[in-house]
Amino acid sequence: MSVEFQLNGNPVAVRGDHPHLLAALRDELDITSPKDGCSPSGQCGCCTVLVDGKAIVSCQQSLAKTEGKAVTTLEGVGADERAAFANAFSACGGLQCGFCIPGIVMRAKAQIDKKGADLQPADMARHLGAHLCRCTGYVKILEAIDAVAKGKEFEPALATTVGGSGAKYEAGELALGDRDYVDDMRVPGTLHAALHLTAHVRAEILSIDTAAAAAAPGVVAVFTAADIPGELRVGIIHKDWPVMIPIGGCTSYGGDVLAVVVAETRQQAREAAALVEVGYDVMDPVTDPVAAMEEGSPIAVWGTGDNVLSVSEYARGDVDAALAASAHTVHEVFRTQRIEHAFLEPESTLAVPSVIDGERHLQVYSGGQGVWDDRDDIARVLAVGNDAVTVTLVSNGGAFGGKEDMSNQAHAALAAWLLDRPVKCTLSREESLLIHAKRHPIRLEYWAGCDADGRLTALRVRGVGDSGAYASVGMKVLERAAGHSSGPYHLPTIDVRTVAVRTNNPICGAFRGFGANQAQFAMEGVIDRLAEMVGIDGWEMRKRNVIHPGEVWGPGQIMDDGCGGAEVCLDAIKPHYDAARDAGKAIGLGLGLKNSGLGNGFRELCRAVVRFRSDGVVEVRHGWTEMGQGVHTVALQVAAQELGIDPDRIEVIVDTTRELGFGQTTGSRGTLMAAGSVRDACIAARAGGCQPDVDYVGEHLVDWTQHLGDPDHPNPTIHSAFGYATQLVIIDRDSGDVERVVAVHDVGKAVNPVLCEGQIEGSVHMGLGYALTEDFPSDASGMPTNMTLRSLGILRAKDVPQIDVQLVEVPQPKSPYGIKGVGEIGLVPTAPAVAAALRDLDGEWRTSLPMRPKFSADD
Ligand code: FES
Ligand code: FES
Repeated sequence: MSVEFQLNGNPVAVRGDHPHLLAALRDELDITSPKDGCSPSGQCGCCTVLVDGKAIVSCQQSLAKTEGKAVTTLEGVGADERAAFANAFSACGGLQCGFCIPGIVMRAKAQIDKKGADLQPADMARHLGAHLCRCTGYVKILEAIDAVAKGKEFEPALATTVGGSGAKYEAGELALGDRDYVDDMRVPGTLHAALHLTAHVRAEILSIDTAAAAAAPGVVAVFTAADIPGELRVGIIHKDWPVMIPIGGCTSYGGDVLAVVVAETRQQAREAAALVEVGYDVMDPVTDPVAAMEEGSPIAVWGTGDNVLSVSEYARGDVDAALAASAHTVHEVFRTQRIEHAFLEPESTLAVPSVIDGERHLQVYSGGQGVWDDRDDIARVLAVGNDAVTVTLVSNGGAFGGKEDMSNQAHAALAAWLLDRPVKCTLSREESLLIHAKRHPIRLEYWAGCDADGRLTALRVRGVGDSGAYASVGMKVLERAAGHSSGPYHLPTIDVRTVAVRTNNPICGAFRGFGANQAQFAMEGVIDRLAEMVGIDGWEMRKRNVIHPGEVWGPGQIMDDGCGGAEVCLDAIKPHYDAARDAGKAIGLGLGLKNSGLGNGFRELCRAVVRFRSDGVVEVRHGWTEMGQGVHTVALQVAAQELGIDPDRIEVIVDTTRELGFGQTTGSRGTLMAAGSVRDACIAARAGGCQPDVDYVGEHLVDWTQHLGDPDHPNPTIHSAFGYATQLVIIDRDSGDVERVVAVHDVGKAVNPVLCEGQIEGSVHMGLGYALTEDFPSDASGMPTNMTLRSLGILRAKDVPQIDVQLVEVPQPKSPYGIKGVGEIGLVPTAPAVAAALRDLDGEWRTSLPMRPKFSADD
């Protein structure tokens, strides 16, 4: 049975068995501007189209209801209108990863069609209630829509210099949904893979019966761990994460995969995956990280021998004596929650086999954050040499750290390799929530003291982080929490110990801030409590303790001139702080720092290539993941400035064919490392006369950091660069709502100030959610309970207060152009500033996040 309707003015007929209109558009008609962020739940808005002129989420629209209607997607919008939206979003910096934007544009079009120039931003913000954007904080989205409604015309251009506020690279294509994400890519003959996940977080697998799945319509093959030709386990640091759990093995968390079902269509694969039957011997899960550390606790994770994943510790001076001699002391336990990245694009991998020079080869298209790690692990799983696999990076629809580990890359690769056919595996939202790593919940116990003038004397910290089942980068997150546990303050004595613990809860790993958020929520809380004891305000307390160049920072590092940015931020926010207090508002301040780069003794080397093609195009090749943060734009602006050429001549290419050695796009290192290596490549090109078709290679090397707590270095330089920020949260005393956030950020050098501002606005949005409403709990079974986007507690557009960003530029020594990185520091000060403002509002100290949970598992 087919269903007929008008699509962009043309009659079409589609199969009637699609689960919703979005599937018919994307899977049968190859209309890819509507994106699939959560189908069929209708909670992200990415799939919005017009049906008879009305904006609807197409994953909630049945085909029966579409019969005879007129459907409009961005592909069918007139050229002038498309250009108006593309130009406005480009010029206003209204997008980052871009995944949410086509749906938002269609919603905006429907409103502008109705109200024209009378459309008010506040009304538009309400209409965006059906949409989520995880990147931007909505500020610049609303500006762009307002500009289109008012008929403002823009001619966006790429910036020509480092420091210029030009458009984001590919912004126009992203706004219109014309730039492919992995799931938008089409390769003839592609099969679709779906995963069968475990029903229990800790159970021995007694049997896996694939017969019913294999016999289901359209199914081509069903694979289990028994079909893996090479290594079973993968992982960025520890190889402890099984690609699938074999019979006789044990599951360790709710995202464990038991079978991969491959079928002609995605729908068939997903339906058949549900038919796999598994026999379990269920064991009690280990869900309490503190109990998991105790002697005699069951081992949580199959194949490991200890629930303690890592210990990070360091100490200087006699903390006990300093606390005893302090005029004021605080002892408090803080608890932060697990939260979900909620990037809008669920993970998708396309694997395409071929034969090159007589040898089998596998091309894998991935939106991951570390293609070389992925390549090496896929080759190990397939038992082939690294040369047999190329992983091509496809700019993704948001990541925030959540795409560092492999999710479905090995499964798609395995199926494609064994079947010798292209295979795509795209996770559903529920699978995405179950599989990828989250932000660590950490219990942080703080003891701190200060003298009568409020000068810090001592700090002791004990932290326990629930790292979930597999290692991911959990030990590094707890190491970073330890390193940042004192905030940007000078401390004469300190004693810190943090432990990452394995449990059967959801895996925790990298997430924007990487442990610094949790630790500084606690430290800033301590600062505010001590300030009250001393009888000074929060600003003054910070001013008296902020780290200065040449002073010893908490972990012992003697800070360089870059750290002057912390005090500059503090001074810059003072007038806003005073004005808000004078206006009778409830106010709270947060001051934070976050490292850029890996540090801790890691040798970081990154290369880039500049190549002049004979057709006049200048290629800039690097290996970083563009996930909305703008690393392509950084590379382009550096090359345009250093080579003195028109940026329109430059093509930025993510090159995974040359061994450029860049590692994971993590730790706010992309901008800094890419800028350094591209600049170096440009210098080489200039020295070489910019000859055509020559690879001019540049590199940026950071090899002077030392390990946290390194006994050979009493004052280890654990990080080469830090970003600093102060945020002021202002709460209206009548409504109790956050009405404004002022964010002053020292970024060293803003490569593109508009994009930099957008990053910070998006961070503040994320930080407010972290502070107030976001949560990803798991229950006594170890399974997560908030399994929809709506239940995560992410703030919608109408809930976002005014955000005022002020950029400060205190250059980072030894960093290209003085860049410090901006991606992660953005939300470090937000939660403590909210906590302090709430204290000012109602007199209550907060110790746990989220502070105003709106959602529960029952919602
Ligand atoms: S994909 Fe339809 S609302 Fe998310
Ligand atoms: S730009 Fe909105 S989700 Fe990335």
